[in-house]
Amino acid sequence: MKTYLNEMKNRVENKMMEYLEELSYPKVMTEGMKYALLNGGKRLRPVLLYMTLDMLGIPKDKGDSLASAIEMIHSYSLVHDDLPALDNDDYRRGKLTTHKVYGEANGILIGDSLLTYAFFIASTKSSNIDNDKLIKILGLISEYSGIQGMIGGQVVDIESEGKIVDLETLQYIHAHKTGRLIRLPIEIGAIIGDLEESKKNLLVKYADLIGLAFQIKDDLLDIEGSFEEIGKPVGSDIKLDKSTYPAIFGLEKTKEILNDKIIEAKNIIIENFPENNENFLNLADYIMNRSK
Ligand code: IPE
Ligand code: IPE
Ligand code: MG
Ligand code: MG
Ligand code: MG
Repeated sequence: MKTYLNEMKNRVENKMMEYLEELSYPKVMTEGMKYALLNGGKRLRPVLLYMTLDMLGIPKDKGDSLASAIEMIHSYSLVHDDLPALDNDDYRRGKLTTHKVYGEANGILIGDSLLTYAFFIASTKSSNIDNDKLIKILGLISEYSGIQGMIGGQVVDIESEGKIVDLETLQYIHAHKTGRLIRLPIEIGAIIGDLEESKKNLLVKYADLIGLAFQIKDDLLDIEGSFEEIGKPVGSDIKLDKSTYPAIFGLEKTKEILNDKIIEAKNIIIENFPENNENFLNLADYIMNRSK
């Protein structure tokens, strides 16, 4: 698994570098975009797209432009998430946050340009994907990044600071701010690979479970992780009185819930995708056991 993760990480990083090389002006934006993007993220979302294509027997080059676009959108979401008006964090991926280096105005604009460049790359560098599929995919990327997806979750996350929210609200936050961008690459892979609807729905179920597990683990690492490993401040959620699983359920119960989600996710794969499934099973374990 480690080797596979590294290979896919290198693959998408080389692609993203290639795409960013096409930009040269204004320099503060092109440098800032590189700073925010090419800086040691885990590249989980691109890995999920390549994994799905691999399982369905589709060549990886069909995923390159879209994997890069998703990672650009994810990285933009982090740049804006760290801004003073949102989580107000000074470190990300082990370095100063983008707005700390380039200033707040440029931080906002660097985020904006990563988001819009993602759509430029997805729409102009995907000639190896059928047009009807690509239009569907572009719709999905828009849906899951915006108000019906990540942004919706971020808004409720921010408005739930300092409050005790019910489980339904907490689930909405996690499913949207994090879950949708984790579902996205898997669903895109299923579209490219012509996976039948019922099977696609099962893969999406797996995606939603590991997406929730991923954010629960992120909440745990915010308490129990080390700055050296997670590369971002420990205690950020407590500082802002965020609504998280540990805040509502306590550490022990949260770990139980995490474990249950991972088991449930793996069972979906074991029962419905018996072939070529090692990466999907290993990735679920990786999400639970990661320390960064
Ligand atoms: C951090 O995402 C924000 C969440 C949605 C939990 P990652 O943990 O994937 O961050 P990077 O990309 O590896 O830095
Ligand atoms: C952020 O969740 C999810 C995003 C959409 C960026 P967090 O605020 O918990 O992410 P970190 O802990 O700052 O990476
Ligand atoms: Mg946040
Ligand atoms: Mg944050
Ligand atoms: Mg967090």
